[in-house]
Parts: sequence; structure tokens; C-alpha cells
Amino acid sequence: MLKILAVDDEPSILQPLAGVLRGEGYEVATATDGAAAVAALANQSFDVIITDVRMQKLDGFAVFRRARAELPNTQVILMTAYATVPDAVTAMKEGAADYLTKPFDISALLTRLENIAKEVELTRQLATHKPDPAESTSKLIGRSPAFMRMLERIEKFADTNASVLITGESGTGKEMVARLLHERSRRSKHPFVAVNCGAFPETLIDAELFGHERGAFTGAVSRREGRFKAADKGTLFLDEVPELQLGSQSKLLRVLQERAFEPLGTNTTISVDVRVISATHRNLKEMISEAKFREDLFYRLNTVEIAVPPLRDRGGDLLLLVDHFLKHFQVGTSVPTISGAALARLSDYPFPGNVRELQHAIEHAVVLASGKQIEVEHLPVEIVAEPATETGGKVRTLPEVMKTFERAYLKRAVQETKGKRGAAASLLGISRKNLWEKLRGYGFSDAELDGDSKSALPRI
Ligand SMILES: Nc1ncnc2c1ncn2[C@@H]1O[C@H](COP(=O)(O)OP(=O)(O)OP(=O)(O)O)[C@@H](O)[C@H]1O
Ligand SMILES: [Mg+2]
Repeated sequence: MLKILAVDDEPSILQPLAGVLRGEGYEVATATDGAAAVAALANQSFDVIITDVRMQKLDGFAVFRRARAELPNTQVILMTAYATVPDAVTAMKEGAADYLTKPFDISALLTRLENIAKEVELTRQLATHKPDPAESTSKLIGRSPAFMRMLERIEKFADTNASVLITGESGTGKEMVARLLHERSRRSKHPFVAVNCGAFPETLIDAELFGHERGAFTGAVSRREGRFKAADKGTLFLDEVPELQLGSQSKLLRVLQERAFEPLGTNTTISVDVRVISATHRNLKEMISEAKFREDLFYRLNTVEIAVPPLRDRGGDLLLLVDHFLKHFQVGTSVPTISGAALARLSDYPFPGNVRELQHAIEHAVVLASGKQIEVEHLPVEIVAEPATETGGKVRTLPEVMKTFERAYLKRAVQETKGKRGAAASLLGISRKNLWEKLRGYGFSDAELDGDSKSALPRI
């Protein structure tokens, strides 16, 4: 629960406000002017200060600036009966959590506080998270129930010779799972050989897998051992296995059945002891029904299936991974920190690219924040532009997403060029007229475009 300091020199406002907040379960202290507020801040820590602007002795802006300078973890909400737009803009630019005009709707304040409470909780979890020793040995990070169920299956099948088919969306960690299966098996002292079946043209993949004699085909200038032989006694990881054409699929089926094959251009049969693990992000059942993948091969590869859950089904793992990547991408001696608002935005984002996308997002943010705390504006534009809460978690169409992206990108370009429309247009590679039309089309106000110019243009 948040600890709040409420500040107002008008008792008829301060008392009811404190009463409502206490009723909501918040811990509330009060101060009747700025000087008393500053004194209270010296003795206790608060998550939030809600302060009136016009007060005797020290005004609310002074309290706010003092808090901003000395208390990075304390959020400040300003309230005033004499709101001016320039004051509001200044306050928000300097990092106020909100700027409310009296009389205001108390429910808006309560919603804002709920959000702050969530952010504070996320930051707290991140700060108190201590990696346990088991976690540091295996590089696979996660603790959510979905992840633990997967780990159990990995442990159960690691030290068997069962062929494992690893399925899961792109970027979920399929290759890491394959490596872990190998590391936890008796084969771990022997090679782990990975082949990306999609990376070779049809004519070359057979040679790559089974090897070839010199002159076996045009371009085969010397004899070559295949990957099956290289993986003898170890594990062969066939990544993107559905990329194999039907001809190669038959050859693979035979090796799996007989543990033997002939290199291209030879009659010699080579026997190997290889455990095969394969992976795909595609729906193999569908490919079988379309006759693009052999059903008998599917059953050979899939003695056991391990499905890697998408990041959005892994709950709190997101925080563990953020923590892990912040350490991973740290420059110098101190681990970069991230604001509660930026964390909240990450937890709202559905991450279609899963762990890999999160990893890139953190890397990107660490670079843009250049040594300072990571804020929302340092996150990649698609994450900033698309809070799932705004769409009610609904999947949006491509044109909708592209519009959101275009709007955010235009805004960044204008801010980047300090509001100079001509410079922004040339940065974007469009005409000035075109830029004006777009800005008008997206309904930008000057205030919105007149943001800070610190942020670099997002990478895409
Ligand atoms: N649980 C995890 N803990 C730490 N890092 C992870 C985890 N899962 C994935 N990663 C990281 O995310 C990136 C993607 O993982 P990986 O290449 O294994 O995914 P993949 O499922 O094989 O993706 P694709 O389908 O695109 O081939 C890698 O950089 C990996 O280090
Ligand atoms: Mg992969």
C-alpha cells in the first residue's frame, strides 16, 4: 500500500482528501504548508506527495522540485485552483505524475494512485529479486508455472534417447531448450551440433547432413564429413525442420529408423549414435494435412513434444528476464535501472517476438538511456505506441498498428529536430507539405509536438 503525504493550506480540502485516501487503505500523513511538507520529507519516505500549488511559506512547485531533485522514487501530484497551461506543461515535463485542477473528480485521482501503486510494486519486486544459484547455472530464466512445467519435462526427457520436437512461437527460446536437453544428458561431453534446415538450398542440405565424397556433385571439390557424423555420440539439433523438402525428409527418416546412412557419392554405410532434437515454430499437423511434411517422419521426430510457452503466458517471468537482460547489457560497473512506468508498459505489451523481442527492447533502451534510468520514452516505439490496455487486449489489424506506429514515429521525428518541421521532413525523407498533412491528419496539437528533444530517434 502506498504511503502518501497530502499537502494543502486549506483544511476544508486537506481533511476530506486525507479521509478518502485513508478510506481506500492508503497510509496518509498531512502537512499544511510547503515548509511543513519538506520537514516531513526529511524524516520519512513517501511513495506519493499530493500537493496544492499556491501556499504560504513554500509553494507546491518548490516541494515538487525538491522531491524531484532528492527523491527519485517519490511521485508528485500537483493540484491547483489556478491552473494555467504553461504551468501544467512545465510540471509534466519536469516529471510530475499528474497535474489536477480543483475541483477535481476524486475517482481520477484514485485511478492514478492505483497505477502508481502498480508501478511501485513492480519496481519493488525487481529490486528485491535475488537470483538463486540454480538459476545462475542454467541460463534459462523463468519461474512461472508454465515455465516450470516445461522445465519438468526437460528434466524428465533430457537423459533419454527419445527424439524431442520443440515447438513454440519465434523467439521463445527453443534453441536454448535444445541445448539444455543436451547439457542435462549423458551425451553432454560429446558434441551438440546445430543445423538450421532453412539456411541451405535443397541441393546442399543433404550434403550438409550426410556428407559427401569428392566430386559427388558440382562444387564438391573435396570430401566432407556430414553433421550427422560430427554429432556422433552427441546431439544433432535440427532447427526449422519443416524447411526440409520431401526428398530430404525421406533420407532423414531412414537415418532415424536405421541409425545409418551413405554419404553422397559413396556406397559406404556409416553408422552413428546420434540423438535428434528438432524445432519448429510452424504447425506441423497442418503441413502434414497439406502433404508438405511426412507424417511418418513427424512421429519419428516427435516421440516427445516440448512446447515452449509464449512470453505473454509466463506472467512474472517478464520481470526476471528484464532483470537478467539489464545485467547482461550493463556498460561499466552499475546495472542500469528502469522506471516503474517503463516496466508497467513492458508488462502491458504482448511481445509477439517473445524473449528475443524483450532482449532487443532492453538493449535498445539501455543504449538510449545512456547511463540514466530507463524511462518509457527509451523503449522501442512499437512498445510505447501500443499499450494493450488501450485496445482492451484486442488484437488489432495491421493498418491500425501501422497508424499507431506512424503517429509515434512522426512525433519522435518532430521532437528530435526540436520542432523544426523542415528538418523533420528531410529526416523522414518526405516533403514538408506531406509532413504537414500527416501531422494534421493525426490531429497533433502543438503542445504534444513541443516535447523534449533528448530522445534519439527510435530504431526500427
Ligand atoms: N528463458 C530464457 N532465459 C534467458 N534468455 C532467453 C530465454 N529464452 C530465450 N532467451 C533468449 O532469447 C533469444 C531467443 O532464443 P532462441 O534463439 O532460443 O529462440 P527460438 O525459439 O529458437 O527462436 P526462433 O523461433 O526465432 O528460432 C536468445 O537470445 C536467448 O538467449
Ligand atoms: Mg531458433
